[in-house]
Amino acid sequence: MNNKIVFSGIQPSGNLHIGNYIGAVRQWVKGQNDGLNIFCVVDMHAITVPQDPKTLAEKTREISAIILAAGIDPDKSLLFVQSHNPDHANLGWVLNCYLSMGQLNRMIQYKEKSDGKDFVSVGLFDYPALMAADILLYGTTEVPVGEDQKQHVELTRDAAQKFNSKYGQTFVMPAPVIPKEGGRVMSLVDPLKKMSKSDPNPNGAIGLLEDPKSARKKIMSAVTDSGSEVKYDWENKPGISNLLEILSQFSDVSVTELEKKFAGQNYGQFKTAVADEVEKFLIGFQKKYAEISGSGKLDNILKAGVQKAYQISHPKLLEAYKKVGFLGQ
Ligand code: TYM
Repeated sequence: MNNKIVFSGIQPSGNLHIGNYIGAVRQWVKGQNDGLNIFCVVDMHAITVPQDPKTLAEKTREISAIILAAGIDPDKSLLFVQSHNPDHANLGWVLNCYLSMGQLNRMIQYKEKSDGKDFVSVGLFDYPALMAADILLYGTTEVPVGEDQKQHVELTRDAAQKFNSKYGQTFVMPAPVIPKEGGRVMSLVDPLKKMSKSDPNPNGAIGLLEDPKSARKKIMSAVTDSGSEVKYDWENKPGISNLLEILSQFSDVSVTELEKKFAGQNYGQFKTAVADEVEKFLIGFQKKYAEISGSGKLDNILKAGVQKAYQISHPKLLEAYKKVGFLGQ
């Protein structure tokens, strides 16, 4: 499909982990050879929870370089920072007015992120309206994300539908694209919980910039299940199933093939193979990351990215403004 338009985003908060890579960034890289592909570091979403300004700025650069190191090619894809394009906040405001409190209240991520907090910002509640703007500004057809973002993409469709039925066809209906395997990489210490940037237990996640030897240790001590057979069975063997998906993604060998390969081998042998593959990946990845962050090219890539993005987003913003009755200039 050559007329596909892909948009996806990632927050520059916390440390990017192999779950973000497998669930999202790896899919972006695989799909960038056709259609229009747009990737955004969503710093405006990051401030919906408290951030240290210096760290946020550093993380925005770090994550941009990580995306490039993962294989996003600026000659094929656009990469830019959300706050560099004011159209996102502007359309976000308009869409605010077409989504209800009830709809936003049903968002699982809002419930999880606000749970037990003394201070919950309006921005955190309203986060999905800005995400809908990100997506709808570009005529996006596909949104490659991990499983946890599916509900937000569905809300984006609801917002588009509401606007289109009131004002006539304006926004393209986007579809979430979630990998069948790897859409929800689980914690290494609790395979019933998703691997998360904000997990207080550092052994649950493997950071993309983490020392490969420490990553190896985390895999070797990952929680596994009772029994001894290496089998893909989420119900009874979530720990092993999670490691099988991780190995499959990094080795490009299907889970079924891996099950055959490890038949008769014990958990220790299997974990060693996963640890080898993850360590090898991290060494190669971090080498590329060092090259890119030291190259001095990042600022220009982000600048060129936002210039092209704005050329696409701005006419769409003006179209929406006109439809709601804003006086054009
Ligand atoms: P964020 O920054 O939390 O995560 C970035 C991407 O990583 C995926 N992901 C996972 N995939 C598999 N297993 C996991 N354990 C795992 N954890 C995270 C997420 O699903 C996501 O695809 N709201 C978004 C950012 C965003 C966005 C957008 C995405 C803003 N605007 C527009 C798509 C389109 C977020 O917080 O992702």
